[in-house]
Amino acid sequence: MVKICCIGAGYVGGPTMAVIALKCPSIEVAVVDISVSRISAWNSDQLPIYEPGLDEVVKQCRGKNLFFSTDIEKHVYEADIIFVSVNTPTKTQGLGAGKAPDLTYWESAARMIADVSKSNKIVVEKSTVPVKTAEAIEKILRHNSKGIKYQILSNPEFLAEGTAIQDLFNPDRVLIGGRETPEGQMAIQALKDVYAHWVPEDRIITTNLWSAELSKLAANAFLAQRISSVNALSALCEATGADVSQVSHAVGKDSRIGPKFLNASVGFGGSCFQKDILNLVYICECNGLPEVANYWKQVIKVNDYQKNRFVNRVVSSMFNTVSGKKIAILGFAFKKDTGDTRETPAIDVCKGLLGDKACLSIYDPQVTEDQIQRDLIMKKFDWDHPIHLQPMSPTAVKQVTVTWDVYEATKDAHGLCILTEWDEFKTLDYQRIFDNMQKPAFVFDGRSVVNVDKLREIGFIVYSIGKPL
Ligand code: NAD
Ligand code: UGA
Repeated sequence: MVKICCIGAGYVGGPTMAVIALKCPSIEVAVVDISVSRISAWNSDQLPIYEPGLDEVVKQCRGKNLFFSTDIEKHVYEADIIFVSVNTPTKTQGLGAGKAPDLTYWESAARMIADVSKSNKIVVEKSTVPVKTAEAIEKILRHNSKGIKYQILSNPEFLAEGTAIQDLFNPDRVLIGGRETPEGQMAIQALKDVYAHWVPEDRIITTNLWSAELSKLAANAFLAQRISSVNALSALCEATGADVSQVSHAVGKDSRIGPKFLNASVGFGGSCFQKDILNLVYICECNGLPEVANYWKQVIKVNDYQKNRFVNRVVSSMFNTVSGKKIAILGFAFKKDTGDTRETPAIDVCKGLLGDKACLSIYDPQVTEDQIQRDLIMKKFDWDHPIHLQPMSPTAVKQVTVTWDVYEATKDAHGLCILTEWDEFKTLDYQRIFDNMQKPAFVFDGRSVVNVDKLREIGFIVYSIGKPL
């Protein structure tokens, strides 16, 4: 029986390995992590992440050929293939701070593999890493090898949160990069054999190591670039009377452009787009390519501009002050169908409004009060470092309340901001909300969720990103 071990039981490691276990009953899969609470949650009925369809997959294989454990060394020792899916946050200090990825977690995983291994291993980069990371990992492993042979593969993950299970069941492609040596090709084949249990062969792409590493950064940069492009146009739409959803539709009908990923928003969030573009920018700078670096930097600048623009719109519409006013925040997660708040635009928007002394009442169907308070206190880029898994500090933001009831959140509010596109926001009783709000009652829709005409009929003053005012 082939044995797989995955180091890192997070948003990628957990779902990816659960699907491999489900699709490959002949493979034993162990997912290990240094976080005891995360592993306990994976072994309980309350999984540590909310992801549609994940519970069913885990229930079907857990205890059969899927195991979650903190006994990292034992499972690494036994494995034939080791996936490394640890976090690769942006560095907060030192060389490359604010841009370069912090590979501390990756390096410590590699050193541990070298320490405990007694047989040949295939080590798979699942985390998103800078180009040439495989070379560094090879050095660490080979210089500590005690005669053991390692093959490093790059197998970046393309799943999106909220649709992770669907994406894993039916991926557009699986990408495997490896050395162009006979041993490298054999390792690629071994990993191909795993995916071939359910992924059609023509969707499994093989490349050299550096192309695979760079393709992951490039794919995220392209996706984020589309959003920044449409968000930049949303500002022009508001200035000219064009409607950004009509423009997106018309542009996306061109089959060379395609309709997906053209929804204007308050800005993109999530743990990866910004981090991976900064990573790309840093690599370009280190390779003496400042023009290329500046090109990609603009994608992030436009995203920051979009979030600021939204805050400015709220404040200026509400007579240039939100001081002491109650503003309801509907949605805090970075997108619908996830409880993940990493780099969510809601953090910057809330901080902006708090800076203008607003009182916020926040509702999100999947995000806890502790998480929201932690996010609002934390410094930029600190969220991905384990220190923040520590209990909350007593300095919670006083102007913020969090409730599980959307009608309570909006009661007596002067304005409401929709920051996540949860489906339930489409069907709220907006008449009831209007009746219980201060007048004039403002709606700021950062996700094109509401029917603007209907809300205006009720009496709201409505601002919706990219729509005529
Ligand atoms: P995560 O923070 O949810 O999970 C990482 C886990 O690794 C944590 O539970 C942490 O405790 C654990 N860990 C860190 N160091 C460890 C060590 N030395 N030994 C054992 N466990 C250790 O992160 P994630 O969202 O799963 O992302 C992981 C990687 O995958 C990142 O590089 C990310 O860029 C990439 N990625 C993420 C997504 C996504 O949707 N979240 C999609 C594609 C790629
Ligand atoms: C993204 C990519 O889609 C995945 O392919 C990739 O594997 C992953 O990053 C990663 O490397 O972590 P994810 O961040 O989970 O996945 O979610 P997306 O659906 O890409 O959304 C990212 C952000 O962009 C969200 O805030 C979303 O609301 C926003 N978005 C998305 C828009 O504002 N407009 C759109 O048209 C699409």
